[in-house]
Amino acid sequence: MSRRILVTSALPYANGQIHIGHLVEYIQTDIWVRFMRMQGHEVYYVGADDTHGTPVMLRAEKEGLTPKQLIERVWTEHKRDFDSFNISFDNYYSTDSEENRELSENVYLALKEQGLIEARDIEQAYDPVKEMFLPDRFIKGECPKCGAKDQYGDSCEVCGSTYAPTDLLNPYSVVSGATPIRKTSTHYFFKLSDKRCEQFLRKWVSGLAQPEAANKMKEWLGEDGESTLADWDISRDAPYFGFEIPGAPGKYFYVWLDAPVGYYASFKNLCAKRGLNFNEWVKPGSTTEQYHFIGKDIMYFHTLFWPAMLEFSGHRTPTNVYAHGFLTVDGQKMSKSRGTFITAQSFIDTGLNPEWLRYYIGAKLGNTMEDLDLNLDDFIARVNSDLVGKYVNIASRAAGFLIKRFDGRVSADAMNAPLLAQVRAAAPQIAAYYEGREFGKALRLVMEQADAINGYVDTVKPWDLAKDPAQAAALHEACSVCLEAFRLLTLYLKPVLPTTSQAVEQFLNIAPQTWQDVNRPLTADAAINAYKHLMTRVEGKQVEALLAANRDSLQATAPAADAAAAKGKDKAAKSEKSEKADKASEKADDGIITIDDFARIDLRIARIVDCKAVEGSDKLLQLTLDVGEAQTRNVFSGIKSAYPQPEVLVGKLTVMVANLAPRKMKFGMSEGMVLAASAADGKAEPGIYILEPHNGAKPGMRVK
Ligand code: 2FM
Ligand code: ZN
Repeated sequence: MSRRILVTSALPYANGQIHIGHLVEYIQTDIWVRFMRMQGHEVYYVGADDTHGTPVMLRAEKEGLTPKQLIERVWTEHKRDFDSFNISFDNYYSTDSEENRELSENVYLALKEQGLIEARDIEQAYDPVKEMFLPDRFIKGECPKCGAKDQYGDSCEVCGSTYAPTDLLNPYSVVSGATPIRKTSTHYFFKLSDKRCEQFLRKWVSGLAQPEAANKMKEWLGEDGESTLADWDISRDAPYFGFEIPGAPGKYFYVWLDAPVGYYASFKNLCAKRGLNFNEWVKPGSTTEQYHFIGKDIMYFHTLFWPAMLEFSGHRTPTNVYAHGFLTVDGQKMSKSRGTFITAQSFIDTGLNPEWLRYYIGAKLGNTMEDLDLNLDDFIARVNSDLVGKYVNIASRAAGFLIKRFDGRVSADAMNAPLLAQVRAAAPQIAAYYEGREFGKALRLVMEQADAINGYVDTVKPWDLAKDPAQAAALHEACSVCLEAFRLLTLYLKPVLPTTSQAVEQFLNIAPQTWQDVNRPLTADAAINAYKHLMTRVEGKQVEALLAANRDSLQATAPAADAAAAKGKDKAAKSEKSEKADKASEKADDGIITIDDFARIDLRIARIVDCKAVEGSDKLLQLTLDVGEAQTRNVFSGIKSAYPQPEVLVGKLTVMVANLAPRKMKFGMSEGMVLAASAADGKAEPGIYILEPHNGAKPGMRVK
């Protein structure tokens, strides 16, 4: 029976490029969608750019654009990348659309009507210079445990300890450098702690397909009757790029409220274009299916907030949510310095075939949340061995003889060969694997068929048969079997290799294949076309060029703090803790830097001209430094505990970071940073030791 299915992938933020980490998800979804379409189901696959929020607003400002200009440009880039990788969206839209404004307002008003929205005053970090509230990701400071500088407000990347943003020492706004103050403002909350939400979610969780997801949900839900769910803060104060909340001037929907609604907005826009009845799909009692493919880091939003929002705003709820793990490259987090933070565009620009990646990712995917690794050597070996050596090779071995000797027509009798019966018999199992998102298993089974077919070719030896005119019938049969088997393999691989499949359909002179065509063999009615090479081998040097292209792009990117801030995981407070581990793996880098990265730090010898305690601070010393410039520099440093008599430092030489962005602190402007050693665990007494160069060093000398 034909099913009616709506499918989504997570909406990418409109402030960055599509990279291979994203592609895992789009490839996974697209394979599934293409397979379900081949089954004859009515499938709609929609996506959109996730355009709202502080990071987009600040990124636009930095680029001298309005947010609308930025999101328009990024949309074009994202669309180009998805098209390059053959991601078959029926609609690719934007959350900054009128449909989304209307739907988001309706959801909100319906929740309000249900008594599930509550206004509450909360105190938050505020940037007094930029005059805006600061999401946690935009506040940095010194780790309260080990003193490491420039740490985010949730955890220290140096010592690994976790803490609240308010624990940071000498916090500063990443936006302006100012010291954040605390400020109170009214926020709107979705009352997820309400009994009705708890009861609904407990029931809904039992339908989740992935046991890991269901377990995680149970953990979040806590004991029966004692829900530990916190209410969700769904508003943000101006300035904010987003939708203003009806009846609440100056308050905006938090980006994560209107982002999932953006799935519906994109679909609504599609419905208008295709004449579909939107309500039939989104209202309670709908007989259609709705699936969301996501990364495991955003499960909280998709398995708690989103279903609850839908349920209590008069909508149907998702049929299922399918979460996948993270991608590593050569066993490690994607790294800009190693060039493994591979953008979709660089992959295409370097001349690599997107079908190679689709196949490799497909071969690695299962239906769990386990992380998957793109091993670059294995990528080359697997693509060359499976796709070129085993699959494409079959056609090239048979096509020439068939065209030269048999007018390009297959032998009808050959279609009943036992080998073909065997290859056809694999279809139901391959289909079951595809439907169950076990793509790795599906592709392994397909390659087993390819092995059997190649074994057949090696046994019947068409090249020997071709030498003996008496063996013409046997040659015809062998080539016909090969081509029919090749057609079947192509059909099985079609969800993964859409471009190659299309080329094969053209070569075999057949109509676009659906799954039913398993039992519709080639006929002698039409001749096949001349064989054109279908796929080249991956060369090691292409992969090297790809890494080099991504390493090079590093030179052009913004300083680390800005880049991290721009990534802007501006997420809900409750989910942040549970996502900590995930967040760490999300980050682009692994701590390894190139010599060029290091060279960007301007380290100089400085003479401490003056050094004194700072009134009102029990941590800071104020240093006046001569770095060989016309003027001295003023630097505040958290080293007081180690130097109770600051004057002992006067006249000494030390090392300073001279190109650190000046930072406005409570006591004045800090124009750099002096280097000091401390134990990694931050516990040793007295703990901190200022660096001092050997004799002969002079103020202003570069340290390299
Ligand atoms: O985590 C992210 O990249 C979000 N932009 C995903 C949004 S998915 C949906 F809810 F819109
Ligand atoms: Zn630390």
